[in-house]
This record gives sequence, C-alpha cells and structure tokens, in this order.
Amino acid sequence: MKPQLLVYVPPHPLIKHWLSVAREAATPSVLFRSAITELGRWLTYEATREWLPTQESVVQTPLAPCPATFINSQVPLAVVPVLRAGLGLWEGAQTVLPLASVYHLGLTRDEKTLEPSCYLNKLPEKFAPETRVLIADPMLATGGSIMATMAELTQRGVEPALTRIVCVIAAKPALQRLNSTYPQLVVYSATIDENLDHQGFIVPGLGDAGDRIFGT
Ligand code: PRP
Repeated sequence: MKPQLLVYVPPHPLIKHWLSVAREAATPSVLFRSAITELGRWLTYEATREWLPTQESVVQTPLAPCPATFINSQVPLAVVPVLRAGLGLWEGAQTVLPLASVYHLGLTRDEKTLEPSCYLNKLPEKFAPETRVLIADPMLATGGSIMATMAELTQRGVEPALTRIVCVIAAKPALQRLNSTYPQLVVYSATIDENLDHQGFIVPGLGDAGDRIFGT
C-alpha cells in the first residue's frame, strides 16, 4: 500500500486557545507573537512523541537503583525555521528542544507569482545520516515554500521519514502537494483550513503571520 502523509491536529485546549488568539484580527502584535510562541511550544511537544530518540539506562534514586530513559543526544537533531514567521514558532520550540542545531532558511513568496524565492540559506552542505529534522513554518498555503524547503533538505541527505513539520495552519493545497512527493512526512498543525483566496492567502487563516509577528 502506498504511504500517505500523516497530518495530526492535536486536540489540546492550549493549542485551540492560542490558535483562536492568533486568528482574531484585533489581537495586537505583542500578543500575536506570544500566541505563535505558545503554539510552537505545544505543537513541538506533540510532534516529538515517538520521534525523539531515547536510550535506556539505570539511575540511583536516594533509595534504590531504578530503570531510566534519557534522550539520546548522540542522534543529530536539527530545526529549520523558515524565515521570517518560522522564528516565532522556534521561540517556543526551543524550550522543548534546547539542544537542537538550528539552520535558518529565508524564503519569501512573490506577491504576484506566489513562487518562493530564497534570500538566506544556512543549511549545511550535507546532513549527518539519521538526522531528525523539524521544520517550523506557521503557514502552509499554496505549498510552494514547504516544497522548496523539502527540496533543499532532501538534496542534502535528509530523509522525509525522519522529518516532521510544525505549522499553525495547513491548507489543503499544500497538504496535497506534500502528499504527492513526500508521503512519508508527518505534519503537526493547530488546524487545517480548506481554501485559499485569489492572492494565495489562507481563508479564514490568520492573515500574514510574518507581518503580525514583527509588527510590519
Ligand atoms: C509565508 C509563510 C510561509 C509561506 C506560505 O511566508 O510563513 O513561509 O508564506 O505560503 P506558500 O505555502 O504559498 O508558499 P512569507 O513568504 O509571507 O514570508 P514571511 O514569513 O517573511 O512573512
């Protein structure tokens, strides 16, 4: 059977709350930024289940030896925030993944063609084998930016099956594109929206995440 893209929408009250704060047009920039930070924290917490490698050990409690499980810090772990808006998610994600290496990718969507162009690429030439990669970008709209991100990563040795995407709103067109090329991927999103308008904005969405985070 052909693998299918997995998209999780964690049914957590904190995720629903902060998504609602972010969607509200009257939310000021400072609170919007907090909402995206909180979503980054809780979505990353959810996304790291059965993904962060662990190792078994034994600890000595004050009373007795006891089996213990630790994060295996030998396995390379990378986070790729897609600028600018991905920085907002990373703000919260770093509290969950303080030891991850962070590789910035700056993409911006052309307002007319909707095609992404890259203005900053701090990815390594090659990722170490077995690297777990978490991509942070609040919006998957037409899917152009996330497809460009995946192309940059896979040509540097990243395995889609070890990659997770954390986003706030995933629109159906982007999920369809991801599924057709990278069905082994797993996406964690606060919600899924059906449609885009003629300018490529997600409807109802939350507007321009980058502009709202940075007050531009
Ligand atoms: C937004 C968003 C995604 C992209 C999604 O970024 O953060 O990266 O658009 O659109 P797509 O799926 O149609 O490619 P934008 O280009 O507005 O840049 P910004 O984060 O700097 O605001």
